[in-house]
Amino acid sequence: MHIEKIEVGRRAAEVNQVVERVANVAIRGLDDTRAFFGGHGRKARYDDAHYEFVGGERDALRRKHYDKSLKLLWKAEKHAPWSTFLDGADDLPLVKMARESMTKAERAASKKLASKEFKGRLAREYTLAERQALVKVLCAIGHGEAYAWLVSAEVLADVQSTGARAALTMQVVEEAKHFVVLRELIKAFDVGVPRQSAWEYLLLEQVLKADGLDKLFGMNVLVEGIALSIFGMLAHFPGLEILRLFHLDESRHTALPVNYFKEFPLDRWERVNPLKRMKRLNLVLPAIPLVFYLEAPLAELGIDALALGGSVIRKVTQLAERAGFEPRGSGEVLGMRLNALFNAYGSLTRPHHQHRDYHLGDTTRDAAARAVEDEVFAAA
Ligand SMILES: [Fe+2]
Ligand SMILES: [Fe+2]
Repeated sequence: MHIEKIEVGRRAAEVNQVVERVANVAIRGLDDTRAFFGGHGRKARYDDAHYEFVGGERDALRRKHYDKSLKLLWKAEKHAPWSTFLDGADDLPLVKMARESMTKAERAASKKLASKEFKGRLAREYTLAERQALVKVLCAIGHGEAYAWLVSAEVLADVQSTGARAALTMQVVEEAKHFVVLRELIKAFDVGVPRQSAWEYLLLEQVLKADGLDKLFGMNVLVEGIALSIFGMLAHFPGLEILRLFHLDESRHTALPVNYFKEFPLDRWERVNPLKRMKRLNLVLPAIPLVFYLEAPLAELGIDALALGGSVIRKVTQLAERAGFEPRGSGEVLGMRLNALFNAYGSLTRPHHQHRDYHLGDTTRDAAARAVEDEVFAAA
């Protein structure tokens, strides 16, 4: 694939890396010290250096329980046609027949061939630098999926109603699937997996530690708004077509707070309380240095990090307003301020910067992903 590179300031890219490394040592050091003295350190039992949860991979357990449960997941629409469920019918008969006619050994062999062929395709389509850039960007979401899994499991305990619990249960299942599948996709690039950056660490730990339903803002609006934008931005890249499915799931997850608060609205005090609003703004802040940190790898992929940042702001503020987390019109103000910041960054660091309205743009190129987002945001 031919990728038109973006010209960015090399000095700024270096500074961004150094600042991140210093922040990383400081933030993790602080959490370790707190934990050592019996306080609250890192909350997630997650080992980002090894891209594993604490306790290791234990793939056998995944195959025996998770894979099997999904395989045997029956559809109520088929087996209880009298119910209100519209969860779809089983596999297409031809695909099912072909798969069932293979022995276990044949199936394993065909899997192995497919994975070798896939790795070959990635190596052919992208240069080493492009593969490293893709992994760096995808990993920002990869580690986020681990937290999405943890956070949705906690929110499941906090929501009211059977319907909301059923909805959250499916999100937990989907986040588990996202984590394990994205991990395999990222590993197929064969370039190693970077640790969580300081900014992701800060952002995701804050979301996991947020009070009660503020987690719905931190995760379903903010983190999944970012994930939606990144999946939409990369889904047209060769070999990454599966990201359309992730994108579709995330679009559903971002709509969850809107639907939940329609039934159980946030009380007015929750919405306008300055302390609460400040806390929510605090959750957003680490996303700003994250944009600068990802500038160099995104440029390698022909994507302007500032355009991605602008597109995320637009989506996240729209979702926050629709769910009732923020008053109408507040997103526009925040969008304009951050746009001014992005332009200031561009004129300071880039050789030929021209003012742009990043907060009005969009980085989703894939037609299918675009259609999904049009539906999500048309209602706004
Ligand atoms: Fe996810
Ligand atoms: Fe999600």
